[in-house]
Amino acid sequence: PVLYVVTPTYRRVEQVAELTRLGQTLLTVPHLVWMVVEDADACSPHVAALLDRLGIPYVHLASAMPAQYRSERYVPRGVSNRRAAMTWLRDQSPQPTGVMYFLDDDNTIDIRLLEQMRHTKKVSMFPVGLVADYLVSSPIVQEGRVTGWFDGWIVDRQFPVDMAGFAVNLSLVMASDALMPYHAGYEEDKLLRAFGITMDEIEPLANQCTEILVWHTKTKKNQPPSLRREVASHPNSNIAALAENM
Ligand code: UGA
Ligand code: MN
Repeated sequence: PVLYVVTPTYRRVEQVAELTRLGQTLLTVPHLVWMVVEDADACSPHVAALLDRLGIPYVHLASAMPAQYRSERYVPRGVSNRRAAMTWLRDQSPQPTGVMYFLDDDNTIDIRLLEQMRHTKKVSMFPVGLVADYLVSSPIVQEGRVTGWFDGWIVDRQFPVDMAGFAVNLSLVMASDALMPYHAGYEEDKLLRAFGITMDEIEPLANQCTEILVWHTKTKKNQPPSLRREVASHPNSNIAALAENM
């Protein structure tokens, strides 16, 4: 089965570094399509150039966050992008088969997990490291079944999992028109609920959810984008041109 890895991304000084690192990981995995969706009105040339250079099978899309959500207290980051990826998959003819996985541009993944999730029948789940206060977010597995959750923010979520903690067979995506909601904190839960899955159907990976093979790493924010005008004054035109991508 083909793996469709959906990665939202947006322009900032760290973007090229993040996409280079993640892209070079994904490059080593066969039968993988990288869906890179920019939070922007149009695909940017520097991301297009990076994807071309990597030589990875990719789909490059753009879908800007609607302006009204930018001003919310909790901004639903990456949602417009992921919705666009799901809509693209549904619009293909013939409809693609395989497995869809959301992986943010700053996350870190062990390629062994990608091979495991490739065989997802409905929805598979696995631990994610470095999530919020608990350092790990994970399904609890007993006798091969998911029976509960370990997560720093369970609240009223039926599926309290991280965005990088589950993979979905495209048959489920195609069987509904469910999209991720613009509701920060509830994106994963509400999408999984919309797929109508039950606890019994969840396929635990990563050795019965006892191994951490993906991490919610975060990159320290670097210099403010206002410094791009300093970069633009660099005497070498190649370096100066990088200011355009920041
Ligand atoms: C956490 C979750 O892991 C995200 O999946 C979730 O979207 C996010 O919270 C949220 O709901 O706020 P976190 O590390 O806090 O992630 O957020 P970011 O890494 O800043 O953003 C998540 C993804 O969305 C990244 O791939 C990022 O490139 C993208 N993003 C972020 C945008 O496309 N637009 C933005 O304005 C910000
Ligand atoms: Mn992140």
